[in-house]
Amino acid sequence: MASDYNNWIAVVLAAGLGQRMKSHRPKVLHPLAGRPLARYVIDAAHEAGVPRCVVVVGHGKAEVRSALGESVSYAVQAEQLGTGHALAQAEPQARHADHLLVLNGDVPLLTAQTLSRLMRSHLERDADLTFLTACAMETEGYGVVLRDEQGNVMGVVEEADREAKAGERAEINGGIYCFRGAWVWPRLAAIPRARNGEYYLTELVGVAVREGAAVLAVAADDPSEAQGINDRMQLAEAERTMQERIRRQHMLAGVTLLDPATTYIDADASIGQDAVIYPNTMLMGNTSVGPDSQIGPNSIVRDSAIGARCTIVASVVESATLEEDVNVGPHSHLRPGAYLCQGVHVGNFAEVKNARIGANTKMGHFSYIGDAEVGANVNIGAGTITCNFDGVRKHRTIIGDGAFIGSDTMLVAPLTVGEGASTGAGSVVNRDVPPGSMAVGAPARVRRRAARRRREQEEVEASGGRP
Ligand code: UD1
Ligand code: CA
Repeated sequence: MASDYNNWIAVVLAAGLGQRMKSHRPKVLHPLAGRPLARYVIDAAHEAGVPRCVVVVGHGKAEVRSALGESVSYAVQAEQLGTGHALAQAEPQARHADHLLVLNGDVPLLTAQTLSRLMRSHLERDADLTFLTACAMETEGYGVVLRDEQGNVMGVVEEADREAKAGERAEINGGIYCFRGAWVWPRLAAIPRARNGEYYLTELVGVAVREGAAVLAVAADDPSEAQGINDRMQLAEAERTMQERIRRQHMLAGVTLLDPATTYIDADASIGQDAVIYPNTMLMGNTSVGPDSQIGPNSIVRDSAIGARCTIVASVVESATLEEDVNVGPHSHLRPGAYLCQGVHVGNFAEVKNARIGANTKMGHFSYIGDAEVGANVNIGAGTITCNFDGVRKHRTIIGDGAFIGSDTMLVAPLTVGEGASTGAGSVVNRDVPPGSMAVGAPARVRRRAARRRREQEEVEASGGRP
């Protein structure tokens, strides 16, 4: 469906230093529910139907670019001379658009619905400049909207530049604007320099009023949408608001959160129906949890795919994949590259890294399996360790289907334990164990059980049945 905004371009201002964050990282890359701040603003513009987006970058521009990717284009503001100057840098790319949607990069709670409403009003009223405001906000750090006695907008004045009235609540500028292209470009160059040397985009509101252009202020229904993020306090506040939104969405979609207040769910996480998330649990990054799974209490799952009907108790799971009916914990750690097939049980104090564990394999207690391929229906005895590192290189361990690894076995890699083979308790296995055989001792010696039994049988027969 063709959008009403095909001849619009969004410009996201993201070049600022973010001084008040006191950070080495560009402000717009600080994560909110696991996603960079600027990502929300870009996504909201796209979702509202604006097809193209130019991001103005400056401070940490390479880092910002690689984090935000190439689905948007970039303009560079070499020196951070204010929001008006920042928009001017996008002119070569945005000059031909009929209208612009300009967004501060640090307003992540903004929704696409509010943007649609703003743009629709702008077009319906045939305005030159439309901007989003929020009422009854604490004014600190914002521009304040000035109105005359009739309620007409007169301008925006930065809080820092006016007589401070501590604790005042007023109508603030949300930092989101629609401009008619033909109107805005010639006027940017005429913005006067503020006392601090910056060119404020907000000056254009006063300019428009003075020249009798059509100016429109649209108040956000939910003022929290206009919350800007300038420091870590505001970041924490926005995180709380975002978490509330995310939890609500999941609960309305059929997920049980026992204690929403201690459950943190990143924006990119998905959760299946009838899953239960217990207290003190974080689902981070690109994580998916299958239906009917139970996660927590006290668990962290990051960038992992969890199948249906799994349980994870008091454990940490990172970049791992669990098929259905897997249970983990308490107190285990699945590290990058762990792949647990259906029905696997990983009990207490176990660690799995870069290893595939076959269906229905059990490792109940105190084991480390790294750089390994473990078959189906294997029993890994308590305390088993893959000794995968020789001090220089990592080596692989392969364990066949149905093998039985005795308690406290040291599997010195590279090593293959064949199908149906077993190792004795406390063995140090440094040579391959053939299928069906048993290895015992330290270093372990292979005993061919089946072969020996046959030999014994033959001896008995040869002696005419006498022992
Ligand atoms: C700005 C507005 C203020 C508004 C508030 C809403 C101005 C002068 N003031 O103030 O009226 O209430 O946002 O949140 O616009 N940026 C650049 N280049 C620069 C300076 C800033 O790209 O040279 C970018 C920043 O990266 C940021 C955005 O513009 O994403 C806003 O800048 P910021 O310094 O946070 O402005 P505020 O002081 O919050
Ligand atoms: Ca800001």
